[in-house]
Amino acid sequence: MTTEIKKKPERILSGMQATGELHLGHYLGVLTNFVALQNEAQCFFMVANLHSLTAFYPNYQDAHRFIAPMVADWLAAGISPEKAVVFVQSDVPEHAELAQLLAMFTPLSWLERNPTYKDKQANTEKDLDSFGFLGYPVLQAADIVLYNATHVPIGEDQLPHLELTREIARRFNHFYGRHEGERAAEKDVLTVPQAILSEYPKVMGLDGRKMSKSYNNSIVLSESAESVTKKMMVMKTDTARVRRNDPGNPENCPVFSYYDFFAPELKNEVNTGCRSAALGCVDCKKQLTARVVEKLAPFRAKREELASKSEFLNEVLHHGAAEARKVAGETLKRVKDAMGMVTRYSL
Ligand code: TRP
Ligand code: SF4
Repeated sequence: MTTEIKKKPERILSGMQATGELHLGHYLGVLTNFVALQNEAQCFFMVANLHSLTAFYPNYQDAHRFIAPMVADWLAAGISPEKAVVFVQSDVPEHAELAQLLAMFTPLSWLERNPTYKDKQANTEKDLDSFGFLGYPVLQAADIVLYNATHVPIGEDQLPHLELTREIARRFNHFYGRHEGERAAEKDVLTVPQAILSEYPKVMGLDGRKMSKSYNNSIVLSESAESVTKKMMVMKTDTARVRRNDPGNPENCPVFSYYDFFAPELKNEVNTGCRSAALGCVDCKKQLTARVVEKLAPFRAKREELASKSEFLNEVLHHGAAEARKVAGETLKRVKDAMGMVTRYSL
């Protein structure tokens, strides 16, 4: 019974750090997934502000001020606080507590071989040489198992963290899953989750590299129509197509990749037109830009409306934290009970 049911998402948890304005990469890679999933399963969407401390520890307030605008972006993108539980990690102290318990039996070697550990340290000027940064995946495991998440929508870059979550959950179940009186039957205390990868894992930036704030190649979601148009018109195309009459290859063109999402019905036509040089890049970009602007218009309108609604945003997050704590509290109790860490002491 259990394996069958787990194929369909039942419980979803995902998290995002708030590091600034969300761009098209977040929208296509993550948010559209969140929005679709909230109709299929019970979803928990979390601002991972404890995780942000790893990079921002001397100036946490710099990270904290990004939280409300990011949540406003989420809501403008279609995440509904009536369908999903939206909350901030540090408002639910169970995360820190469970992470501490899990840390006690997570082998150091698992964390040291985590590919994101060395990669990130090598690619930043920030000091990531901390205990907390090494333990980043342990906290992420706690985030996930606290909500009994069966599925976790994430980007490909997060797969190693999900694998660690699975290993940590299995290890806990191995140690503490057996209940007295159930002899051979191992009963899982923690749910071992699966990843859900986005259909649009890698959104190209204006320069043809992956869209990322640090590359300065993004289209920000709340950008004006004029600014989106300006950026799209200077976006890289197939670099081998130099003159208007040269045939192009859409496979080497970041502009073409946008058609997948914004105008899939035009893909065939563009593909042929580009390869035969019947279609020029300027026209190709113009028709696409019109679609991008049109698709983002509802987001911009909603985001503008939310800009003056701090009270509402606080209500959403306070309510979300209260809902999250109910579930997280139950899991933490189940974990401690399984471990025998109960508040009854006997001589
Ligand atoms: N590490 C994730 C990221 O940087 C954020 C995150 C924290 C997360 N906890 C999570 C994602 C739990 C999924 C599930 O993108
Ligand atoms: Fe890219 Fe379109 Fe130009 Fe072809 S015509 S190279 S798909 S921008």
